[in-house]
Amino acid sequence: MQRIFSGIQPSGIPQLGNYLGALRNWVALQEGHECIYCVVDLHAITQWQDPRELARQTRELAASLLACGIDAERHVLFAQSTVHAHVRLAWIFNCVARMGWLNRMTQFKDKAGRDRENVSTGLFVYPNLMAADILAYKATRVPVGDDQRQHLELANDIAQKFNHDYGVAFFPTIEPVIQGVAARVMSLRDGTKKMSKSDPSEQSRINLTDDADTIAQKIRRAKTDPEPLPSEVVGLDGRPEARNLVGIYAALAGLDLQGVLIEHGGKGFGAFKEALAALLVARLAPIAAETRRWLADPGAVDGVLRAGAARAAAIAEPIVDEAERLVGFLKP
Ligand code: AMP
Ligand code: TRP
Repeated sequence: MQRIFSGIQPSGIPQLGNYLGALRNWVALQEGHECIYCVVDLHAITQWQDPRELARQTRELAASLLACGIDAERHVLFAQSTVHAHVRLAWIFNCVARMGWLNRMTQFKDKAGRDRENVSTGLFVYPNLMAADILAYKATRVPVGDDQRQHLELANDIAQKFNHDYGVAFFPTIEPVIQGVAARVMSLRDGTKKMSKSDPSEQSRINLTDDADTIAQKIRRAKTDPEPLPSEVVGLDGRPEARNLVGIYAALAGLDLQGVLIEHGGKGFGAFKEALAALLVARLAPIAAETRRWLADPGAVDGVLRAGAARAAAIAEPIVDEAERLVGFLKP
């Protein structure tokens, strides 16, 4: 059975992009794989986090993952900082990865912006820690959104260089698992920008705890153009907002874009948005209710994370011990 690893930052309740681009896929992959899922609090502090907020958001995200259908009994769910193997391997990878490789990372450039001299050094080596997350388990398949593809290529470069430098075939090749239609969900206010938890406008995203009225209202107000929906996919070219809403519908209904246009082509956005809102409510309302149920019992969430950490450590510690031996660390 192939081993899956993925991580998600504890930056508040997940939004629809996280769900369609990542979480839904995480849930589906539980069938037929051994899955290890991690709330990446170490990655979170590469940018300043209020300590109390970080703890709360880590627990909130875990509750949300459980509500989406992550089965923490058959698989593993834990918080990254509680399994020390991640930082041990990350240090080795800091010494394997090259400056030039990290300089090419577009996510670093985006996050650092013009303020490159002033961002944390952790932000720069962020991808090394991500490689360590995966390779500490020798996981071979990694479900992520499209924006993480470059980091996985880097992880493979690191694994290969480690194997080459130490003359071993120790780390496997990682295969990204990138989801189809809605791999990139865009903002409801601007079809050229990714939907994101960090967008200042609440109207730009749908949160996994939004109630039915909020969802309907956000979709009604979503930016569109005055034309009706086309009947062919090419008719979506140059219409990013229309393409985004059709993409969201497609992902939720299990159709491709053309399938949605067969049903809804020729309709105005008023009617289409109503159908989309109903579909979103049907899919998300049960998740919102289940999230609230977990959040009402924080001790239960913490218990799940504690048990997950013990099981994660049992897999990762021997692998990282061996990596340290290969590097030449004395392990008396
Ligand atoms: P983040 O919250 O940015 O750490 O993202 C967590 C996961 O959700 C990652 O796998 C991202 O690639 C994915 N993701 C975040 N935003 C979007 C989006 N707008 N569309 C698709 N996937 C996304
Ligand atoms: N960098 C990923 C993101 O922003 C989160 C992440 C951290 C991750 N470690 C990982 C994803 C390991 C997959 C595997 O979405």
